[in-house]
Amino acid sequence: MTTSSLAQRIDPWTALKAQFSVIFGVSPTLYHAPGRVNLIGEHTDYNDGFVMPAAIDLSCCVAIAPRDDRRLVVHSANYNETIELSLDDNNAPTQHWSDYIRGVAWVLQNAGYRLRGADLAVLSNIPIGAGLSSSAAIEVATGYALLDASGLQIDRKELAKLCQKAENEFVGARCGIMDQFIACFGQTGNALVLDCRSLNYRLLPLNGDIRLLICNTMVNHHLAGGEYNVRRSECEEGVRLLAAVIPGVQSLRDITLVELDRHRARLTEVLYRRCRHVVTENQRVTEAALALQRNDLSGFGRLMADSHRSLRDDYEVSCPELDIMVEIATKQEGVYGSRMTGGGFGGCIISLVKEEAIVHLQRTIADAYEEKTGRRPEIYACTSAEGAGRCKTKDNESTG
Ligand code: GLA
Repeated sequence: MTTSSLAQRIDPWTALKAQFSVIFGVSPTLYHAPGRVNLIGEHTDYNDGFVMPAAIDLSCCVAIAPRDDRRLVVHSANYNETIELSLDDNNAPTQHWSDYIRGVAWVLQNAGYRLRGADLAVLSNIPIGAGLSSSAAIEVATGYALLDASGLQIDRKELAKLCQKAENEFVGARCGIMDQFIACFGQTGNALVLDCRSLNYRLLPLNGDIRLLICNTMVNHHLAGGEYNVRRSECEEGVRLLAAVIPGVQSLRDITLVELDRHRARLTEVLYRRCRHVVTENQRVTEAALALQRNDLSGFGRLMADSHRSLRDDYEVSCPELDIMVEIATKQEGVYGSRMTGGGFGGCIISLVKEEAIVHLQRTIADAYEEKTGRRPEIYACTSAEGAGRCKTKDNESTG
């Protein structure tokens, strides 16, 4: 069982800095980007819809010092492995952790940011493949570090979009903008509600005694592989068929449930359910934002339950372990609501819980889940955290 805390977050950073100095013989500057949990609004971002993520206090840290040539030398402290690449070569994806670094360097340079060579070391405490956005965190932290070390400024929205492009076009996962956006714009004490079409967002304060309890089913999901991209294509097909009969429709964001039902006959049964999930989920995000604003946490919890059911039955991106975990968590005293979070097919559930119940919940949920599935879950009691930036440690000077 793991509990994140500020102490755990700072210690690895200090260790990374020391390790960097040993490997590269100079002192680095440190940058970080957080993982995220999505409270509600799943599989809506690539449909121009609404999402409600919060950055969490698990993060990826990149230590960097500029070099005089055009090479990137990158050490992963997680994999204890070092790779090298030239910023002048056409780097192709290699199906390796370094693709995130290669992809970000490639996309930044293509967008006209001329990068300096640099030595980098990367350390992340975001569990990989658990739906907490470890990839966006490494992309955004790396992008920020490479630009700053090259003396280049970037607007955060632009950085988020370029990192998404790296993931879409280099790594090969057709993700939406949510993860990279929240890695850039997260704020301590807040979730945010994001309009993925306009990229306008609003902060939603999470009041003091709410905790984000994230329970990892320990079933690894594989975003780049098949099903996620299949769902995207199904949505596109739904839009194509509905746009022929509803004027002005560019994405599922533009369709109401009444319209969808009116034109149901144009869709196959599966396409209808996919579209219904997206249309109703957008509606739930709007209602959940209102519930949070009036501090109606039980109402928020009911919307989380509806969201989970819709993802399980209509969108079919849950799995038995996620359903079991949600069922266990929902029954517990002190839990306002629970649902799967992230892309699905494994990974984590998120529960909104009372702070005072945290210790009891971690033990009870872990024991019950293990008894039912034979897997011991990891549980992270998180608070909402700050978006990407230079690490605020005493001696973290700039090298840019
Ligand atoms: C993954 C993607 C996001 C989003 C979620 C589902 O996390 O990276 O862009 O589509 O799945 O909501």
